[in-house]
Amino acid sequence: MTYSVFSTANNSNISQFKKLCEQHINKQEYPFAHDIINNVIIYDGDHLHQQSKEHKQAIQSEIYKALASGSGIIAIKNMWSDHQLLNQHNEIFNQILQEETVSGIAADHFAKAGANGRIWNSFQKVALKDADSFIDYYSNPLLSLVCQSWLGPYYQVTAQVNIVRPGGKAQQPHRDYHLGFQQEDDVALFPLPLQVMTQFMTLQGAVAHSDMPIQSGPTLLLPFSQQYKEGYLAWRKKEFIEYFNEHAIQVPLEKGDGLFFSPALFHGAGNNHLENFNRIANLLQISSVFCKPMETVNHTKILSNIYPSLLKKYQNNQLVHLEEIITAAADSYSFPTNLDTDPPVYGLAPMTQHQLVKTALTEGWDAQRFTQKLNEINHKRQA
Ligand SMILES: [Fe+2]
Repeated sequence: MTYSVFSTANNSNISQFKKLCEQHINKQEYPFAHDIINNVIIYDGDHLHQQSKEHKQAIQSEIYKALASGSGIIAIKNMWSDHQLLNQHNEIFNQILQEETVSGIAADHFAKAGANGRIWNSFQKVALKDADSFIDYYSNPLLSLVCQSWLGPYYQVTAQVNIVRPGGKAQQPHRDYHLGFQQEDDVALFPLPLQVMTQFMTLQGAVAHSDMPIQSGPTLLLPFSQQYKEGYLAWRKKEFIEYFNEHAIQVPLEKGDGLFFSPALFHGAGNNHLENFNRIANLLQISSVFCKPMETVNHTKILSNIYPSLLKKYQNNQLVHLEEIITAAADSYSFPTNLDTDPPVYGLAPMTQHQLVKTALTEGWDAQRFTQKLNEINHKRQA
């Protein structure tokens, strides 16, 4: 047979897929986990936080294994323990939705009109509305722990709010960004190893901003399905959809819990069967700094807006998780840049926004000086 790095949907094999999806998680292989439910590896947020001080890399290795070669799904109970903060965010979400409804830009491209409330780029919109809430939310050390497990020290956060109202319908099973958003014929043009590799550049997550009992339709997930190499070509096929519909599981979540899964996992939102109950999630998509995220985030706008609050908190010793919030809010990578105008500062890499924020805070720059310098480094990066 001639060797080929390419494949097509016709090559997908449901029996290989079933064999992968019939695996089971052995709890003993996940010593930091609190429980295993339906092959989902469940962590206790407080316990994880305590343990991470001493065993950070061991935990990160365990999380990586769970997502890559385990079932592909983890949940962290009580990841955001400050419910007041979540309530504040929910109020901001409502304000944004109202404003977007009035201005006519509110639209969900992935659901029937009216069934869903969707806020694209909630990450930037919240940062511009309420700097303190944004800082408190995205400095969560457990978020950083999980993101770093998959993507290393620096990463790019994007977020979208999804509010599923009563009667909201289930989504078809699918895979996510990158290749989950491409047409099947286009996917087939990418070498198979590259298709497989893309899943390691993004981490998919959801923060429960309301309780999510099973009746409210939390995400349907098919454990181990991320391991199927031809999955980006196969998820539209009838026999794969049928298998998903028979075997997908759901994890009930409580407000403040976090759910993370490989973007290659077959999944889809469930039906909301409850009356008078909105299921609210802040969906997180966290990307490697080596790739293009799905949404444009204007880090300069975010940093300019939150800097005064950051400085105040820093000077009052209230910024316990400095590294975490800077990594979330700033562009932490030197490239792409213009090497004519933006030569390396330390080692071989030009200065990043991340380094600039840290310098500004430790040297106590005022907001005007910070913004001016930020604009300068942005300008130098333009070609
Ligand atoms: Fe999805």
